[in-house]
Amino acid sequence: MKKIVKTEIEKLLIAGNVRDVLVYDCIESTNDCALNTGATVFARTQTKGRGRNGRSFFSGEGGLYFSIALFFEENQIRLGSGALIPFSAGRLTVSAGIAVAKALNLFGIDAKIKWVNDIYVAGKKVCGILAERRGDIAAIGIGINLNSSIPDDLASKAASLNAPIDPNVLAASVINGFFHELASPDIEFANANCITLGKTVECEKGIGVAVGIDADGALLILIGDQTERLYYGEVRFLSA
Ligand code: BTN
Repeated sequence: MKKIVKTEIEKLLIAGNVRDVLVYDCIESTNDCALNTGATVFARTQTKGRGRNGRSFFSGEGGLYFSIALFFEENQIRLGSGALIPFSAGRLTVSAGIAVAKALNLFGIDAKIKWVNDIYVAGKKVCGILAERRGDIAAIGIGINLNSSIPDDLASKAASLNAPIDPNVLAASVINGFFHELASPDIEFANANCITLGKTVECEKGIGVAVGIDADGALLILIGDQTERLYYGEVRFLSA
């Protein structure tokens, strides 16, 4: 199975989007390293892989773990092209989810987005995304179960793609795609490929039916006769 190699990934990335690229065999968390250094960071394993809401993220051999660093100028993000885009947390996460799903589609994998930003294949989670900010740096951390051995206690919910995909090509496709989406997120794609839509869900706003994703990446939930916008947080499926 191929591994992430600094010179290979650097060749595949569109110039200017990322600053330094760091590749580790093992690190605590690529998000911490990206937030501390401003580099885009890859690791073959993580000892303290972090998920959303204080959860840990399984980060064993065979997975693809990386964090893309972004730089704020006041409340805008400077893209490699030099363009400044307004910051919105929803836009960051929706762009990352779209980029991962589209990259997997390129390899013939029917990947779906579970709002806010988990990626599912055949009903199981294959990828998690965690966006964090520290000062003027944000890290978009992406963990893909590419050829991982999923522990028994996670196997009912998570799966590995187990596909002969070069991680350098997949990661470059995600990162290049992410910067493209960030400038102009393909919300139509997100709506067409989101498994949350049409489901009865429970969230901090109450119980309702998820009906769409808006231009800011917010989930639209019909609660009674009101459409509520959920910008972040978890949703729990109450219907299959
Ligand atoms: C989730 O599913 O709750 C989000 C998981 C995000 C995991 C990735 S792996 C790379 C980066 N480093 C971390 O510590 N977390 C993210």
